[in-house]
This record gives sequence, C-alpha cells and structure tokens, in this order.
Amino acid sequence: MKTESPEEAAARLDPPAEAIRRMGHEAVEWMARYHDEIRRVAVYPRVTAAALDAALREPLPREGRDFERLLETFRDVIVPNSRQNAHPRSLGYVTSPGTAVAALADLLASVLNANVTAWRSAPAPAQLERVVVDWIREGLGCPPGTGGLLMSGGSIANLAALAAARERHCGDGVGEDGLVGRTRPLRVYVSTEGHHSVDKAAALLGIGRKNLRRVEVDERFRMDASDLERKIEEDRAAGAEPFCVVATAGTVVTGAVDPLADVVEIARRHGLQTHVDGAYGAFAAWVPSARPLFAGLAEADSIALDPHKWLYLPPDCGCLLYRDPAAARPAFALGADYTRVLERDADEAFAFCDYGPELSRRFRALKVWMTLAHGGARAVSEAIESNLDCARHLAGLVGESEDFELLAPVELSIVCFRYRLPALRGRADLADADERALDALNERLMVAVQRGGSSYLSNASVRGRFALRVCVTNYRTMREDMQVLLDDVRRAARDEVDAQ
Ligand SMILES: Cc1ncc(COP(=O)(O)O)c(C=O)c1O
Repeated sequence: MKTESPEEAAARLDPPAEAIRRMGHEAVEWMARYHDEIRRVAVYPRVTAAALDAALREPLPREGRDFERLLETFRDVIVPNSRQNAHPRSLGYVTSPGTAVAALADLLASVLNANVTAWRSAPAPAQLERVVVDWIREGLGCPPGTGGLLMSGGSIANLAALAAARERHCGDGVGEDGLVGRTRPLRVYVSTEGHHSVDKAAALLGIGRKNLRRVEVDERFRMDASDLERKIEEDRAAGAEPFCVVATAGTVVTGAVDPLADVVEIARRHGLQTHVDGAYGAFAAWVPSARPLFAGLAEADSIALDPHKWLYLPPDCGCLLYRDPAAARPAFALGADYTRVLERDADEAFAFCDYGPELSRRFRALKVWMTLAHGGARAVSEAIESNLDCARHLAGLVGESEDFELLAPVELSIVCFRYRLPALRGRADLADADERALDALNERLMVAVQRGGSSYLSNASVRGRFALRVCVTNYRTMREDMQVLLDDVRRAARDEVDAQ
C-alpha cells in the first residue's frame, strides 16, 4: 500500500467539504435503502464468532483507507451479520427499532460534538434536554417541578435513583465516609420480578445484594403490597433500616405493573422513599388504554424510563426523573473546582453532572426532540397503543389455539407462552417429567425460530417453566406479524417431529 504524504494523512481526520458530502451521501443512501428493505431481510444471521473474527480481524492499520471501503465492510459484513432490531418481528428482549430521524439526529449531535455536562458547556443542547425531559414528565402526568436528565439507560438510572435515595436517607456523611461504621443494615424492597440492575445497584452502592428484600408477587406478577408492608415491619423489628421501595412499572419478564399507588402509600406511611423502575413500561402511561395501570406513578420520588425502549429510539437514551431534583443534588454535586460553574443566573449555573453519575454526556436530547417534534406525540402514542393491541391479539390467538398456551397474563406488550406437544394438550396437571420435556422442547423451538430468520423471540422463566417471550416495542409490528410468528413456531415444531 502506498504511504500517503503527511498532508494526505491529515486530510483523513479533517476532510474537505466535498469529501464529507460524498461520504455522507453514500451513508444516507444506504440508510434509506435499509429502512425500505427491512421487512424483507432475515431478522437474525446464521454466523459464528470465528467467521466474524476471520472477516474483521486485522492488525491496527498504520495507513488509512477510503471511506467507501469501510462502508463496504459495514454493508457486506456488519449489517447482514447483525440482529435486525428494526425488523417488525424482532420481538426478543426489550428492543427498540430506532427511527430514521433519530439516526440523523445522532449524526448531527456528533457533528456538533456537544458535551452536555452543564449549561455553560452546551447552552442550547442543555436547554433542549430540559425541554424534552419536561415533555416526558408531562406525558407521564407528573407535577411541574419534577425534573431530571437523560442517561445511558435504565440500569444507570436505577443506580442513580438509589444513590440519591441513599444519600437523602443517610445524610451527607455517607458520601464522605461510606457505609463503614453503620450498625444497622440498610434495606431496599423490590418484587421477585424486579430487574437485576436493581441488584447491581445495591451491590455497587455498598447496600449489599442480600439487603435487597424480594417482595412476593400476586397471580399477575405484581408486587404484593401486604407482603411489602410485612417485610418492612419485620425488618424494622429485627433492627434493620428500611429506606426505599423500588416498584416496577413493566417487569422485564411478563410486563406486570406493580400497584404503584398502594406501594407509594405504604412507603410514605413507613417513612420510606419510592423509586419506580419504568425502564421498559412507563411510556405506556402516555396512552389511554394502559394509563389506569399507572395510577400513583406521579407520586414516586423518582422514575426511570427508557426512550431507547418504548419511545423507539436507538441506544443509548435513558431518563431519570426526580420529584424533587434539589434533593438529589447532594449525592452528585461535589463542587470540584474544575467543574465549578461561575454563572449568576440559576438556570445558567445549572449542571447536569450535579444530578447523575456522568460528567461527559452525549447530546441525547436531539434525537428525543427530533423524533417527538417530527412524529408528534400522537403518532408515538398511537404506535404504543398498536403495540399493546398486537400483544393482546397474540394472547387471543394463543388462547384460541390447541397447540399453544399462555404462561402469564398480558399486562402491557409482553406475551409469555409455550408450545404443547399433541399428547400433552388439554391436560391441566402435568407430571414433572412432562414439564421438563416441554421446557426442553420450547428451548429447542426458540433456538430454531431464531435461526430461521423470519421471527426473533426470546426466553423467560415463568414460575420455573421455560417460556417463549415476545415483547412488542416496534412501530412497524402489525397484527399479521403475530400470526406469522406462531406459524414460525409451528413450523419449527413440525421440523422437530420430522427429525425424530
Ligand atoms: C424493567 C427494566 N429495568 C431496567 C432495565 C435495564 O435497562 P437498560 O438496558 O437500558 O440498562 C431493563 C432492560 O430491559 C428493564 O426491562
């Protein structure tokens, strides 16, 4: 390869306008085609790590190469060997499809290269973040004065919320001295269905995973409020220090929404704070058919919710709202001299890094703003409503069928179900061996469906049983896709039988 002159090499870092135009045109042209063809591609690739390593590994290139060649690798190797999260039957985990406008917003945000630590670092991006956070607040029906910030995602939002709650409960000393010397263990309460990021937060904050008390759930997998109260009282009597309840608004396995009003009332009566983990589900509070499930949400001390889940945006984009933002500051505002803001106006002296763990922060607000302002809140809430409808439709198809059964009630847009062998249909009580056979069969069916490329679903454990799990958080998904998905599972089941 020819060695470039120092000037040619430098131009690769700072290309002339014409070269930027050419590169951008090709990338955007690819993006337009990608969105146009997304329904027709395989949702999951058949590929091995070894094959990908062989295609991608190379020594660190000493000399640069042209963007067109990089785009070729992206188009020919990376794209077809990725899970296509934008596909309407990408129904595994909690995955957003992204939006074309959000992708362009990410590009523009990177061009501006704003670092939204504080108002002073990025005046307009900071102001826009306040605007979109306020839109999110308004959509949830939280009172004015509730405020917060965008974060990398739900895990960090849960961590920050618990850090703020711990500081508020323990006072300033805990940031300085840690938990050393405290004689009574702190206790946090979350249902048995709560997300593992809450366990992680308890460990990282020195609370300890064993001080995360798992509260029982009812038959709909919602926190059992009476068990919550019992556990708080038991812990107090045993000398522990309960300080926070984490309610879940949309559990990751079945989509259950804890009885938020009851949980807040019990927590308040016992002097505890409440955080709501709505990372997956809370945007459903924007839509009429699901809103009643979220009664009490606005009363919580903090709420985590992910625009990179049910606002359809590409990662990373989480959000944390504090009912009283000033009360969260002591956990994060350390006043290092190099971050000290010298503006006089309170709005201009504002620093996001005083309300969360990150100092450097991407300009995430641009994609939230562009998606909401371009689509309008109505389009977004109608898409969420349609996702809920798809999940109910799938539950109906499963319920009417002979070969499938639901394993959990459908609360939001998650459906947990399984395929039943002909010999085991219509029987209420199955022997352990039959249950294990169904677990193993459904696991094989899930892998076969994923490899087939027409639909992608994930797995969950529901009362110890292996469940096929579908989560609809994609504005492209239609009722017909639910039928195609069931047909894909049936085809995999037939192939199983044929192979035996
Ligand atoms: C209920 C719940 N909480 C927290 C998280 C973690 O969110 P993130 O992946 O954005 O960190 C998830 C992820 O699916 C979730 O479903």
